[in-house]
Amino acid sequence: MKSILITGGAGFIGSNFLTYFLDQYSEYRLINLDLLTYAGDLENLKDLEHEKRYSFVHGDICNKELLSHLFSHHDIRGVVHLAAESHVDNSIKDPGAFVRTNVEGTFALLDAARKHWLDAPFALKKGYEDCRFLHVSTDEVYGSLGETGFFTEKTRYAPNSPYSASKASSDFLVRSYFHTYGLPVLTSNCSNNFGPRQHDEKLIPTIIRKATARQPIPIYGNGKNVRDWLYVIDHAKALDSIFHKGKLGETYIIGTRNERTNIELARYICRLLDKLAPHQAGSYSDLIAFVEDRPGHDHRYAIDPAKLEGELGWKAELDFESALQETIQWYLNKYQIINTKVTKEAPTTDKPQKEVKKDKNKENLVQEQPSQASQNTENTAEDFVEEVEAEEVVAEEVVEETLHTRKRSSEKTQQEPPNPYAQDYSRYANFLSQEDLEEALEGLAEIKASLIRARKNYESAQENDKDAESKAIMIMRKAEKGEIAWEEANKLAMQLLRKQEQAQEEVRTTKKHIAELENLHSKMEQHVDTIKNARKAYRKKVRMPDSSDTIDMIERMKAKVEKDEILSDLYEQIRRAGPDPELERKVNDALGVDAQKEALKDLKKKLGLD
Ligand SMILES: NC(=O)c1ccc[n+]([C@@H]2O[C@H](COP(=O)([O-])OP(=O)(O)OC[C@H]3O[C@@H](n4cnc5c(N)ncnc54)[C@H](O)[C@@H]3O)[C@@H](O)[C@H]2O)c1
Repeated sequence: MKSILITGGAGFIGSNFLTYFLDQYSEYRLINLDLLTYAGDLENLKDLEHEKRYSFVHGDICNKELLSHLFSHHDIRGVVHLAAESHVDNSIKDPGAFVRTNVEGTFALLDAARKHWLDAPFALKKGYEDCRFLHVSTDEVYGSLGETGFFTEKTRYAPNSPYSASKASSDFLVRSYFHTYGLPVLTSNCSNNFGPRQHDEKLIPTIIRKATARQPIPIYGNGKNVRDWLYVIDHAKALDSIFHKGKLGETYIIGTRNERTNIELARYICRLLDKLAPHQAGSYSDLIAFVEDRPGHDHRYAIDPAKLEGELGWKAELDFESALQETIQWYLNKYQIINTKVTKEAPTTDKPQKEVKKDKNKENLVQEQPSQASQNTENTAEDFVEEVEAEEVVAEEVVEETLHTRKRSSEKTQQEPPNPYAQDYSRYANFLSQEDLEEALEGLAEIKASLIRARKNYESAQENDKDAESKAIMIMRKAEKGEIAWEEANKLAMQLLRKQEQAQEEVRTTKKHIAELENLHSKMEQHVDTIKNARKAYRKKVRMPDSSDTIDMIERMKAKVEKDEILSDLYEQIRRAGPDPELERKVNDALGVDAQKEALKDLKKKLGLD
């Protein structure tokens, strides 16, 4: 049996990868070396506790003696190196910890592999020819993209945070061990991962945790930073392909062409949460709040995984929506149960007192190294983990009740909201049974008028969507420059974004409405033609003069009616869309805009009087 060393296997990607890998290869024995910093948790691996081909070693990748012992004791033939300090925000507060683990730790591992696998540079020991060292890195080493373009394996390195700089340094060390010693290495650089077991500090768990606790959901800056989201199991499969089929010395970048801005992602999650766990207080997206941007925050990451797809035949399997839905469900089990209990016991968002603290190191796991406290653990993070753990234990007691509540909620969500146009449709459908030409023409004119109105509504909802968003961005920019207080800017931006959500909902409904009307319209046109033809045939038969003039006249009259109706509707619509004068006034004040002038301009534009 071949022994493979997995570092950082108790973390987010490590635990998902380890579980997947162990299941795929019965000929491998996996040794998980993890320091269990605040980011590592053996709970992530509790399903493997009784697995004979798996063992856990509590230790530091920087510990050279330990590495030497592990390589010879287990005769390690492969390494998948995931251990790292991985949170950008922490790297800003404490860059030293990142240099230590990510740079020195990677160096110690490479050197241990070199000593154990090679007789001399470019001379692998006999029987060690199939050894492989896969270094797992990030796309953040490439820095930031503009609005277009993609990272490829050829993109120049330009790290901007201490985290990405430390990962870039480790990538270079890996490269150097290939070129200097012929160590059989591979590097992967992947985009943002999501999925179960991610630490609470990261974006997606934070959105879900804050939302279900009914607390503000913090989004950096203006929320426009773009990330390419990769499901963690698809990542595990990519690592499997690279480890087994990748060309030694090469780099493979992993992504899914699934770009989302942070604000889009937050809203998407909130929408799914609204469906999965509706809350009586309103939509979760009402809780989104912008916070001061992170320094050096990269604007956009996007990946072109053509090399991985072309050379190794990898392709992301799960579509974003179902993967995200599964992920949310996993975190709901983790967080919402807790919140149900909290809400039930006291109508406050305060967390319950710490009662129970779990033993992280389970008895049957191999302890090859005395436990070491992480140098990098942050008190706040540790406290939070403890709190969550305590809450989870309490939570188990209320699982059943919550499942019951959730079932009731989902029953509620399955009821479709009433269609606001249902009455109109049945009236229009009635026209289709009219044999009288004049009645049928009236129906056609009405449907036509509705269609024009719907198209106008659609356009103006689209405009409102863009308008609210661009105003929110302008306000956040002013806050960044210190021209408006963050708190005030946040409030206004959130109100505008709520408006934007309403507009987007209007866009969706109106689109469906237009499709329905187009269908009715074409049926009505056919119906009118059928009556006209029947009339013509009848007139021919009884030799009556053609009455096309009369018909034209009726149509002209209808067209005129239509126009008047549309115009009055438009005025009505503008009057209705307008009111939220208080918000309008505040936004205009904040942006220094003359509201009256703008309103007049807008009205003129809408009426085509520009
Ligand atoms: N999460 C992402 O979206 C993402 C994206 C691109 C690349 N990556 C890379 O993938 C790898 C795994 O990321 P993750 O999100 O699972 O990280 P994570 O923070 O969830 O887990 C890191 C694990 O490494 C362990 N660890 C930290 N320092 C150690 C040390 N000195 N010795 C031994 N173990 C130590 C921690 O205890 C933890 O279990 C990292 O190398 C990261 O740079 C992650």
